[in-house]
Formats: sequence, structure tokens, C-alpha cells
Amino acid sequence: MKLLGTGSSLPKIQVTNDDLSEFLDTNDEWIFPRTGIKSRHVISDEKLEDLAVDAALKAVENARVQLSELDMIICSNVVNEYVTPGLSCIVASKLGVSCPCFDINCACPGFIYAMDMADSYFRSGKVRKVLIVCAEEPSRMINWADRSVCVLFGDGAGAAVFGEGDKLKGTRLSAQPDPEKLYEIHKLQNTPYINKEEAEVPLVMRGREVFKFAVTTSARDIKNILADTGLTPGQVSYYMIHQANLRIIDAIRDNLGVEPEKFPTNIRDHGNSSSASCPILLDECNRAGMFKEGDILVFSAFGAGLLSATAVLEW
Ligand code: COA
Repeated sequence: MKLLGTGSSLPKIQVTNDDLSEFLDTNDEWIFPRTGIKSRHVISDEKLEDLAVDAALKAVENARVQLSELDMIICSNVVNEYVTPGLSCIVASKLGVSCPCFDINCACPGFIYAMDMADSYFRSGKVRKVLIVCAEEPSRMINWADRSVCVLFGDGAGAAVFGEGDKLKGTRLSAQPDPEKLYEIHKLQNTPYINKEEAEVPLVMRGREVFKFAVTTSARDIKNILADTGLTPGQVSYYMIHQANLRIIDAIRDNLGVEPEKFPTNIRDHGNSSSASCPILLDECNRAGMFKEGDILVFSAFGAGLLSATAVLEW
């Protein structure tokens, strides 16, 4: 498959580190050097599906395709207000299309997992145009009194439209299952038969362990996919790394021995927006005119699961 267009959409409220220090025992001096984050967008009166639809419409327009041409919508999402139907159905209904659609919950690497799935449908000849929408509101998963977690995340949506082609050069998905390192638990409806203890648990993160997982798996995944595709780190035009923490990105870059110019970042203004992070970065770089035909982009993302994924895409 090949990429035809990108789009993104952000909540209007931008919360700075100084804003956080008004109600939390934290400050910019702690947050910025450890994470690279200065501010993040946070949902207020918006609905996540509206951000998803906005990002999708921008991607469709950028791709110069008609909505009626879409053969499939894959939504990557961890939580939104609906349990059912899937966010993809809500997006499809607002777009006025009736192609097959489904959601995946692969946390931060969701965009790459979705690309990998779309690629299989292209290879089987079942689709000609696929819309991927990654929409996330981690601000609704966190405990806003837990300074070690809530300062890291932001909300948003990123989308991409793919068509037939041979520009996706490879993908690699991997898992190191360990639900205890990064999780949120929510309570279901009660029934007359439930006699076990249940609780709402806002996002729990073993920060240092997740940090180590991110750096080691991303560097390993990238080296593996470069070997798969016969590329050297220097032949890659841009490394599109999940924007979780600038120190994680720097450590991956050090490990690969690549110059910083090849690692675009937007974490400073967005924080970690889970699976929306990679497609928002992709869209911002696209709209800034950064890419030229033939550029090689390597995506790498990691997160809850613990899951990780990487992909090589030629522009
Ligand atoms: N403001 C001020 N102090 C804070 C703070 C905040 N927002 N958050 C934590 N602290 C305090 C802690 O309470 C601790 O204090 P103590 O030593 O008195 O107990 C101290 O800062 C050190 O905390 P620590 O957790 O050791 O810091 P760290 O250097 O490991 O950085 C993270 C913490 C969360 C920034 C880092 O572990 C990280 O980025 N992990 C990966 C997270 C991630 O990206 N997750 C998503 C992946 S998809």
C-alpha cells in the first residue's frame, strides 16, 4: 500500500506545565528536563469522535479521494465515552459512509498495528482505499492528582488514508505481555451475581520500567526492520518515534548513532497522545512540507501491553 494523505485534530485547550503547578505539586523545572513536555492539549467540551472525524476529513481531503471510495475504516483507540459501538462506527456514521469498520486497542503502537492490518487487506486484494484514524483521550484515564502520570499525557486524533501501492516496505509487531506495567481498570455494570471485589483504577504506570522497555524494544525493532528491508540507519530520512518522552527518543537515537535532525518531535506541545502520537507527528511534518518523494520514514512505537511495533514507509 502507499500513503495518500494525512490529517490531525487537537482539543482547543492547551495546558502548560505552569497551569499544572497551580493545582499539583509539580513545576516546569521538574517536567521539562525529564520529559521534553511544555504543554499538552486536553479535551474539554469536545467529543473525541468529533476530533476523529475532523482528522479523518482532513486526511481524505489531503489524499484527494472521495469518502465514497473508502473500503475500510480502522480506528485505533484505547477509551472513549462509548463502549459499543466502536469508535470506527461512530466516525463512519458521521462521515456518512458504510464501508466495513472496526476498532483496535493496541495502545501507543496502534497506528503501526493498524498499518500492518491494512497492508494485509491490500495484499489480499480486498480493499483499494483504507482510512486509519487514531483518536485518544488519555486525559480521561489518568488520576489528575497523580503527578508522576498526569503530566505526561495529552489528547488528540491523527488520521491517514492509504491506497494501493508498494511503498510500505515492511512492518514488525511484537509483544512482551505484562499487564502490570501500564494499565487502567474500569468498573462494569453490576449484576445480581457479581460477588467479587472490583474497583476503578486510574492509569497506573511503572515509569522507570516502561522507560527501559521503550528504549530497548524500539532500538531493537528498528535494527530488525532495517535488516529486513536492507537499509542502514543512515539511509533513513526520518525516524517517526512515538512521542512519549524526549529522553526516550534521545536514548533510541544514541543507540542507533543517528543525527538529531532525522528525529522530528512535537512532544513539547502535545505530550503523549498514545496511538494518535505518530499520525499527528506525520501530519504536522507532511503539512510543513518536510517530506519529498523517495524519503524513507521509519516508525517505531511502544506502550501498554506491553506492545511495540515498527514500520518502514517510503514517501
Ligand atoms: N513533579 C515533581 N516531582 C515529581 C513528579 C512531578 N510531575 N513526578 C514524580 N515526581 C517525583 C517523585 O515523587 C520522586 O520523588 P521522590 O524521589 O521524593 O520519591 C522523584 O520525582 C523521582 O521520580 P522518578 O519516578 O524516579 O523520576 P524519573 O526520573 O524516573 O522520571 C518519568 C519519571 C515518569 C518521567 C519517567 O520514568 C518516564 O518518562 N517513564 C516512561 C513513561 C512513559 O513514557 N510512559 C508511556 C509510554 S507509552
